[in-house]
Amino acid sequence: MSSLNKLTPKKIVNELDKYIIGQDKAKRAVAIALRNRWRRLKVKGELQQEIVPNNIILIGPTGVGKTEIARRIATLTNAPFIKVEASKYTEVGYVGRDVESMVRELLDVAINSVRAEMTLKVQKKAKEIAIERVLDILIPPLKKDDKGQASDLDLEEQQNSNARSREKFRAMLLSKKLDDREIEVNTQQPRSPQIEIFSNVGLDSIDFNFSEMLGSIFPQRTQNQTRKMKVKEAIAYFTHVEQSKLVKNENIVTEAKSRVENNGIIFIDEIDKIASTDKKSGVDVSRQGVQRDLLPIVEGSNVPTKHGMINTRHILFIAAGAFHISKPSDLIPELQGRFPLREELQSLSTEDFIKILRYPKNSLIKQYSALFKSEKTELIFEDEAVAEIAKFASKANEKMEDIGARRLHTIMTTLLDEYLFELPEKKYGEVVITQKLVNDKLSRIIEDEDLAKYIL
Ligand SMILES: Nc1ncnc2c1ncn2[C@@H]1O[C@H](COP(=O)(O)OP(=O)(O)OP(=O)(O)O)[C@@H](O)[C@H]1O
Ligand SMILES: [Mg+2]
Repeated sequence: MSSLNKLTPKKIVNELDKYIIGQDKAKRAVAIALRNRWRRLKVKGELQQEIVPNNIILIGPTGVGKTEIARRIATLTNAPFIKVEASKYTEVGYVGRDVESMVRELLDVAINSVRAEMTLKVQKKAKEIAIERVLDILIPPLKKDDKGQASDLDLEEQQNSNARSREKFRAMLLSKKLDDREIEVNTQQPRSPQIEIFSNVGLDSIDFNFSEMLGSIFPQRTQNQTRKMKVKEAIAYFTHVEQSKLVKNENIVTEAKSRVENNGIIFIDEIDKIASTDKKSGVDVSRQGVQRDLLPIVEGSNVPTKHGMINTRHILFIAAGAFHISKPSDLIPELQGRFPLREELQSLSTEDFIKILRYPKNSLIKQYSALFKSEKTELIFEDEAVAEIAKFASKANEKMEDIGARRLHTIMTTLLDEYLFELPEKKYGEVVITQKLVNDKLSRIIEDEDLAKYIL
């Protein structure tokens, strides 16, 4: 994760290249769109409001990297990001999830990450306070009203001695010598009424926080409780308590809202599933309803959330779909117009498969090698074997359905099945996958169409 100002389009593409082979045009479009968010915030005055994001539709057959691109941008930027499935939504008024909930979800994501960031920032300070509080328990400070019994001189002496012991204990505490000593800690537990809510309504539609509401109806009472803890647990406990005191909820919400409104990204996957090819059937009418509900959100409108209104005008929308049954032109025209950039992803070639098997940081070969390693077995692929696997993948995609790189998964499991089952009882030590081995294992299956349909 790096901050947005360092992520130039070229750097974004470089990062994506580590995971996704090819698809250069799509990567470029996404990179430019991301950078434009940052550029807009540098624009002064009224013009800043006028610059709206160029929403993108990624179009391409199944298994060629559309969702993968989304997944990678999510980890790349610290902009609030969610990926939603278009097919999960239903038209307003019907049972199910309404499209506005995606904005609320995005805000929740932002709140969580801002809270985590802010909590981390105050961690050091909170721990310092926590240590003082534990010291207060170990060496209680002198009370003011002790004064009556002692002369001023004695008092000074007592205070000095108290301070000395405290320093001694602090040193022991910091060198972890006291970690396992038990102390009594006064914990304050909010006592909230125990009410369970049963409902068959999706929680989405409940737009406010039940426990907060109940909290304001029934005044919060706190309960003093003494618990025995080890010193190290007490430090962790007080650090946690102090962290939440140091981080103000309203600051979290303000920051999160601003991030959502200025940098938020919503990735709408499977958008082709709400396109309608036949305008008359019932399902299609409902799909069109979802599209119509999406319009104002994509164009920019205020969506109510439990933390106030969120303006969606500058949220970037990236949609993706295979569009093999429907076409982008089957989306209602108003929605098409709101996604001005169309990027087509290409079907993957045998050459691409070779690279996909080897190069991405999370490539299948790397994954399986790591799995084998856990059984103390070295898994080695000869180059010719990798090329052979890629060839089989292409062939299977041609003969049956083109499922893109997903075919590599099924082929690899078939290829390695025996080893995965025999390990660790059988001691291979080293498994070398050769071209011949690939052929032996796969050619029979691929030639037999019925078998191939089930296995690959
Ligand atoms: N170009 C690519 N480079 C590297 N890996 C890829 C590529 N395309 C697909 N993959 C791998 O194939 C799998 C499926 O890809 P992905 O989820 O992106 O498909 P998709 O394009 O979203 O397809 P669908 O339309 O079916 O949702 C992932 O595990 C991904 O790692
Ligand atoms: Mg997908």
